[in-house]
Amino acid sequence: MNVAAVNEANLADAGAFSATAQLSMRHVTKVFPGKRDIFSKLTRKTSRDFVAIENISLDIEPNTFVSIIGPSGCGKSTLLDMIAGLSATSAGEILLNDLPVRGPGPDRGMVFQNYALMPWMTVEENIRFAVETVYPKTDPKQMRRTIKEHIQLVGLTGAEKKHPHELSGGMRQRVGIARALAISPQILLMDEPFGALDALTRGFLQDEVVRIWEQQRKTVIMITHSIEEALLLSDRIVMMTRGPAARIDEILDVPFPRPRDRANLDQHPAYHDLKAKMEEHLFRETRAVEEARINA
Ligand SMILES: Nc1ncnc2c1ncn2[C@@H]1O[C@H](COP(=O)(O)OP(=O)(O)OP(=O)(O)O)[C@@H](O)[C@H]1O
Ligand SMILES: [Mg+2]
Repeated sequence: MNVAAVNEANLADAGAFSATAQLSMRHVTKVFPGKRDIFSKLTRKTSRDFVAIENISLDIEPNTFVSIIGPSGCGKSTLLDMIAGLSATSAGEILLNDLPVRGPGPDRGMVFQNYALMPWMTVEENIRFAVETVYPKTDPKQMRRTIKEHIQLVGLTGAEKKHPHELSGGMRQRVGIARALAISPQILLMDEPFGALDALTRGFLQDEVVRIWEQQRKTVIMITHSIEEALLLSDRIVMMTRGPAARIDEILDVPFPRPRDRANLDQHPAYHDLKAKMEEHLFRETRAVEEARINA
């Protein structure tokens, strides 16, 4: 679909989108342009345009915890990067409080999969740097309070003066979460935040995120490969198809009451049905990716 067609479609189905959504993706498409320059031609390394995501529409209501699952390489990070404003949509638009997203902003905090901390800065300095970048005029007293509060929130008191290389993976991820929350974003974006952690640390951090979410009730959009993690944390689970031209296959509502306890979540009558649906989806999509690879 080209941009003009998307804009026409937007006008035609404006009523199809939620009026109360905080974040609204409307016919979002992402195309990574192929290489056709002289150098690529001479070295026979030209490539075609790659449609990663095609025509995705999704409304997210305030204070909801949304997880995105889908096979590896389907376009989850691509979608989150566009929401963060780190990369532009090729067609369609993303609206935040009815205004188009044009770049990164203090209303969205991002937790990266690979921590992305400044290695030469301590825990405190990493958080300070994020707040200063977004709010350069913060009063020094307020700044100290914000840093202290967020270090406390993620359970890192005592490690303020440590550098990232002196921290475990779980501690680094905590700094990533503290840094994202310290700018007081409306929406927290997390790209596989616990992917690199061992099972026990992962469980502890999931519980921390549940606790923080109960306290702050921010809108969260989290990418995960873990079915159990999505079921424990989310209100809604978005299941993406394989790429290229990935789209949303189905959105599941997770009806478990909060606060949730991982120990008895599977007692809920809907648990096994939801889990089976997600397993079946991931199995089907991943198998299709593998088959396409073998036949290529
Ligand atoms: N800058 C880029 N240029 C060209 N293609 C890209 C670029 N970034 C991503 N892609 C392609 O877009 C597709 C989606 O990538 P993306 O990183 O969003 O997948 P993902 O769902 O996050 O995967 P994973 O679960 O492995 O993290 C992939 O085929 C990838 O090769
Ligand atoms: Mg990714």
